[in-house]
Amino acid sequence: MNNKKHVIPKIKGLLHGADYNPEQWLDRPDILEKDIELMKQTQCNVMSVGIFSWSAIEPAEGEFQFEWLDKVLDNLLANDISVFLATPSGARPAWLSQRYPDVLRVNSSRVKQLHGERHNHCYSSPNYRKKVAIMNAKLAERYSQHPAVIGWHVSNEYGGDCHCDYCQEEFRLWLKNKYGSLENLNKLWWSAFWSHTYTSWEQIESPSPIGENSVHALKLDWKRFCTDRVSNFCEHEIAPLKRINPELPTTANFMEYFYDYNYWELAKSIDVVSWDSYPLWHRDNDEVALACYTGMYHDLMRTLKNQPFLLMESTPSQTNWQPITKLKKDGVHLLSSLQAIAHGSDSVQYFQWRKSRGSVEKFHGAVIDHVGHADTRTGREVTAVGEYLKQINDVAGTATKAEVAIIFDWENRWAMDDASGPRNEGMQYEQTVCDHYRGFWRQGINCDIIEQLCDFMPYKVIVAPMLYLIKPGVAERFEEFVKQGGTLIATYWSGIVDQNDLCFLGGFPGGANSPLRRTFGIWAEEIDSLYDHESVKFELENDSELGFSGEFNIKHLMEHIHLESAEAIAYYRENLFDGCPVITKNEFGNGVAYYIAARTDVEFNESFYSSIAEKYGISKPVENIPEGLSLTTREDEQSRYLFIMNFLNENRELECPLGDWVNACTGDEVKNNIVVAPYQVIVIKNNK
Ligand code: GLA
Ligand code: ZN
Repeated sequence: MNNKKHVIPKIKGLLHGADYNPEQWLDRPDILEKDIELMKQTQCNVMSVGIFSWSAIEPAEGEFQFEWLDKVLDNLLANDISVFLATPSGARPAWLSQRYPDVLRVNSSRVKQLHGERHNHCYSSPNYRKKVAIMNAKLAERYSQHPAVIGWHVSNEYGGDCHCDYCQEEFRLWLKNKYGSLENLNKLWWSAFWSHTYTSWEQIESPSPIGENSVHALKLDWKRFCTDRVSNFCEHEIAPLKRINPELPTTANFMEYFYDYNYWELAKSIDVVSWDSYPLWHRDNDEVALACYTGMYHDLMRTLKNQPFLLMESTPSQTNWQPITKLKKDGVHLLSSLQAIAHGSDSVQYFQWRKSRGSVEKFHGAVIDHVGHADTRTGREVTAVGEYLKQINDVAGTATKAEVAIIFDWENRWAMDDASGPRNEGMQYEQTVCDHYRGFWRQGINCDIIEQLCDFMPYKVIVAPMLYLIKPGVAERFEEFVKQGGTLIATYWSGIVDQNDLCFLGGFPGGANSPLRRTFGIWAEEIDSLYDHESVKFELENDSELGFSGEFNIKHLMEHIHLESAEAIAYYRENLFDGCPVITKNEFGNGVAYYIAARTDVEFNESFYSSIAEKYGISKPVENIPEGLSLTTREDEQSRYLFIMNFLNENRELECPLGDWVNACTGDEVKNNIVVAPYQVIVIKNNK
């Protein structure tokens, strides 16, 4: 018995492969044949096929050509290479746009787009929905029992919104359903402001660059609506696939903290989360900060379904769309790929298998360059990843256990960014979340990245940076979490508005008599914003219960707070709020709630969270981790894997971890301190 969760049930090991576009080479059977040989050479065992194949499958309306695809899939099968088969809705044939113009998206300026590009169809278009349903049913009928096919790659990187008449109508229906009456909508949208009261549903339009932008709740609802629209479209795509073979899992490839949709919602429409990761290695000469940021994205993708995810795309060498398209230094490709596995991925996949000869991605990195073979630096680096994955194949399906969760909440982010104040130059929500995350990442402590609707109870510590928007019931759930013994940490600019973007009355956080105010035991009176060049000092005194002391810096935002039942443990030491509390602690029920009233920096956060981990018994794989190393663990009932990654271009020495560890690749016992070479990754394993 073991508790592994194989998210792609047909596959019990790790996947390694790429997006494969054979439709570009149908007149070159020699190349298609060579591809298979090279896939084997580079240790690839999966290909994503058909992502942009609509024109090749349906060259004219209703005329389907599957023979080429049959051959491709059969060849892959004969060579033990599995397939994620795509639905091709990410890009469409010209005949479709020409014959059915309602498939074309209308932008926010109400201009209809011309045919071309990709990822730009209307999600409401009746004709697009009809054509996609036909296509997907045909694909499912023909291939969903094909032994090479292990899952559906649904569309590609869903993104954007459409402002056509169909979408406007759907938006109004969505609002009617949500608010019931115009009277209710006007009240909750605070539309008396600037005389924006609506007297008929037809007056309501999606946000645009001119007009209709002052009602914040409308803008927030539009974003929520767009998430519902894309989820609905995704489910429409999936319905024929599941009707024909309910067993075959579906995935859609996500993108980081993508702005357009709330991924917590979209993730519900699919079986497995996958994502496309393109970190800008070597840009800032600070791989450590970037590694931390990327680690946090991986953790989000894992937490979305609380199970392993897939790294659907990454570049084997360089992209062609970043401002400077840098190659990765030797070893960084393996390190970056293994980082995904370390944070819970069960695959390393690339965009793209073979470079196209023409068009927009002809210079995008690929496993196979225009030279046509894999005896290249990239070919060798890719092969090394494939070989490494084989050696740690047992990691597939293991879980990541986290005692700490950091909240990153989409609706909160949208509302805060749109708020007009207090810092229009940028609230830096994403970076702020990461600055807190880094305190744990630095210590090798696994973190889940959750939203405010997630269950809080599985965690010992929860950090909620700038949780400006609080949904109904969340304050009560925080209170309960702390009462039951949890440690909760919140910051300035928390509990300011409700789910309708209406400010709480009677004192922040949360308003008069709010469970938030009770839990934190403070009242936040006002917030000051600082220019980028400003900083303000605060001090933790010698007897600080956190076990460290000293002066630290505040940047960007600082709040003026008053103690109610909390005690202060750090104070402003200059400026407007000199002498007032900056960090407070409130013992509440069986737990503790800390409030950090100003934006602290990474240096402070690292000390603070190290103290928190110590005080509240958060387990760590190794006591002291040198700067530059990142450690994560994955486990099942029998084994535990420790990933040790060095993101610096210099050796690092790690103290020998306690317990009987062996190198997961070589089986050698780990008896001494571990020297980790520049950009090296080492995986060790112990049996429980
Ligand atoms: C995205 C797309 C791919 C490709 C890559 C290039 O992730 O999904 O089709 O364009 O970017 O990096
Ligand atoms: Zn539309």
